[in-house]
Amino acid sequence: MKKIVIAIDGFSSCGKSTMAKDLAKEIGYTYIDTGAMYRAVTLYSIQQGFFSGNRLDEEKLRTSMDTIRITQRFNSETGRSDTFLNGVNVENEIRSMEVAGKVSLIAALPFVRHAMVPLQQKMGEEKGVVMDGRDIGTVVYPDAELKIFVTASPEIRAQRRLDELKAKGDTKSTFEDVLLNVKERDEIDSTRKEGPLRQAEDALVLDNSYMTIPEQKLWLLQQFHNVAGS
Ligand code: DC
Repeated sequence: MKKIVIAIDGFSSCGKSTMAKDLAKEIGYTYIDTGAMYRAVTLYSIQQGFFSGNRLDEEKLRTSMDTIRITQRFNSETGRSDTFLNGVNVENEIRSMEVAGKVSLIAALPFVRHAMVPLQQKMGEEKGVVMDGRDIGTVVYPDAELKIFVTASPEIRAQRRLDELKAKGDTKSTFEDVLLNVKERDEIDSTRKEGPLRQAEDALVLDNSYMTIPEQKLWLLQQFHNVAGS
């Protein structure tokens, strides 16, 4: 069976990472969460005080890009990949609503994308990776052998995100807050100049609004075997 690159792109909170992680585990591939990288840069900017409210001092971030080191490491206890920012595990912090509310702004900055894309390309050099993001099939790996574009309605995505936040002990966020955040991110992610969220022409579309996780997994495995052989 040949080793391939699987690019999974799509909207926020449509379960991309769950399905990408699951698929990677099933087929023995490495899972790479590129959203976590943009989230880590956002967390760094918050920690360093580069934000005042929602206003970012871009210049300060630009001149600090060299000092940001982002790595991902598989955690065998939790079965997930953890993201490290300059050696510190920030997996929980990067999932907060504060980071979610600011990350689109950071991900739209060309100098941030120019730093992240080569890192992602390096991570997938040996193939055998499932990479999830927004521009994987269009910019990072335009030659990926298998490209999936995942979508679901904003309301369904907001509910999924809210369930996730609640499971982590968030009692403050409401459905309306989360829906607004989902829609705002869609808008910023799709309209930015650099690496916008866009379906690659050769991507297969998966609308998972009414699909269960096992159904999605089965569908993905079929696509994988169609391309990589069995
Ligand atoms: O997948 P996620 O929700 O963790 O992504 C966080 C943010 O990063 C989201 O606003 C989109 C952005 N992103 C991006 O611009 N390009 C990627 N390859 C991955 C994520």
